Amino acid sequence: MISILSENQINNIREAGKIVSACHIALRDLIKPGILTSDVNDFVREFIVSHKAVPTQIGYMGYPYASCTSLNDEICHAFPGNEIIADGDILKVDFVVTLNGWMADSCWCYAVGDISEEAAELMKVTKECLYRGIEKAVHGNRIGDIGNTIQRHAESNGYSVVREYTGHGIGREIHDGLIVPHFGKEGKGPRIREGMVFTIEPMINAGAPECTIDSDGWTARTADGSLSAQYEHTLAITKNGPEIITNQD
Ligand code: MF3
Ligand code: CO
Repeated sequence: MISILSENQINNIREAGKIVSACHIALRDLIKPGILTSDVNDFVREFIVSHKAVPTQIGYMGYPYASCTSLNDEICHAFPGNEIIADGDILKVDFVVTLNGWMADSCWCYAVGDISEEAAELMKVTKECLYRGIEKAVHGNRIGDIGNTIQRHAESNGYSVVREYTGHGIGREIHDGLIVPHFGKEGKGPRIREGMVFTIEPMINAGAPECTIDSDGWTARTADGSLSAQYEHTLAITKNGPEIITNQD
């Protein structure tokens, strides 16, 4: 089932999105060499709760924390904990907020101190992948148009697209019906329609696309140890094109 939402329903998601955006903007100053990934998670949880919203990820499919804090070769879903964030790291922080029963979701990749040229280039191309995907998220296109443009941009830069995790419909549930792969063929997949709300969240590896899962059952990391970057926005498809619900500009 692919949900088509009314303007009123989307307004609720917009309100949740404002909290997600504001929290990411605050993280720009918080994330520094020397702090722990659990410090980042504590900040995210307290920020969400102080805005009278719910940190949706806690308890979702048994996930224990408000956020995922994935460093370097960790692709996604890493547990916050005692890892010290160091100069040169890249850190992906991903979280979902529920406000009045409606959800918004965004992951952002942060450069910690001075990062290598390789890491900076991977971050730049991954962000471009997200925004190129968003440009294709217009009424009348197909979901495959999004993945196709992301895959072509990643691979033409010598990178690879993680296959195991995708964008997704979102609304009253974190994962609501629609699946949005970050690879695929133009003209394939479900038709994109006004009123759809979904995420695009490419995970792009500097090396090979394969991932492994740690013994915690959650943390996904690159099989070859290469760096991985991710950016995610929640979007609403309007008659004027894609609206970035979790915009930070
Ligand atoms: N933000 C995640 C996503 O983009 C959703 C939560 S996964 C969790 O799919 F289980 F870690 F919470
Ligand atoms: Co998501």
